[in-house]
Amino acid sequence: MKTYRYHPLLVGLHWLLAFLILFSLAMGAFSLKEIANSSPDKVFYLRGHMIAGVLILVLTLLRFAVRFAAARPPSATTGKRFLDMIAVSTHYGLYLLVVLMAGTGVALALQAGLPDIVFGGSGAPLPESFSIFGPRLAHGVLAKLLMALAALHILAALYHQFGKRDRLLSRMWFGRR
Ligand code: HEM
Ligand code: HEM
Repeated sequence: MKTYRYHPLLVGLHWLLAFLILFSLAMGAFSLKEIANSSPDKVFYLRGHMIAGVLILVLTLLRFAVRFAAARPPSATTGKRFLDMIAVSTHYGLYLLVVLMAGTGVALALQAGLPDIVFGGSGAPLPESFSIFGPRLAHGVLAKLLMALAALHILAALYHQFGKRDRLLSRMWFGRR
């Protein structure tokens, strides 16, 4: 069977981004959110989260551009048009949600004066809470949506690989194209 693969740059970026995004989702929801803004540790966690978030935005836009420039394998099919449509919508949905996540994160950071507090060394205190800022609400809601869509995407990939046994994962791995 002839194997068609994604361009190695798209493969490398996919796995780097998957790691960074899942890590940021987990860190945001399980640690960052739980630490009060009055805690001395908060700035340290915010610094890591903001750097990872902006890196995710830049790499996602790069990946999206390379995706259209490089030859891509023909679309994978389940044999059912409805499921194939869900797969395509999920992929575009993931790109969109990641960009919106990072966008609302940057908007929140700017409104709350974080660049100066977190990186400027001004020593100014963090606002008492982020909940008064609109983008904070959007950032939280989008995070739940992204978790749900990423879970669907991962389960679907595992179903292809181990249920249908169509070697889908090899399309997103390195090797002869
Ligand atoms: C362990 C977790 C993951 C696995 C096993 C996985 C697996 C895959 C596979 C096999 C493909 C290729 C599908 C095809 O050939 O049609 C793919 C594509 C894709 N994955 Fe993942 N993925 C994972 C995590 C993620 C995460 C966290 C994101 C982003 C939130 C993501 C975003 C995408 C996108 C946008 C595509 C479409 C590629 C394109 O056409 O540009 N993946 N994934
Ligand atoms: C795709 C990238 C990003 C992901 C996946 C992500 C994920 C998260 C998550 C899951 C939370 C907790 C939300 C909740 O459970 O309500 C959060 C909070 C937050 N994120 Fe992000 N984020 C990203 C990008 C950014 C960026 C680029 C910035 C700023 C430059 C940022 C700044 C913040 C801030 C300030 C909070 C609030 C923390 C708190 O309420 O104490 N995020 N993020």
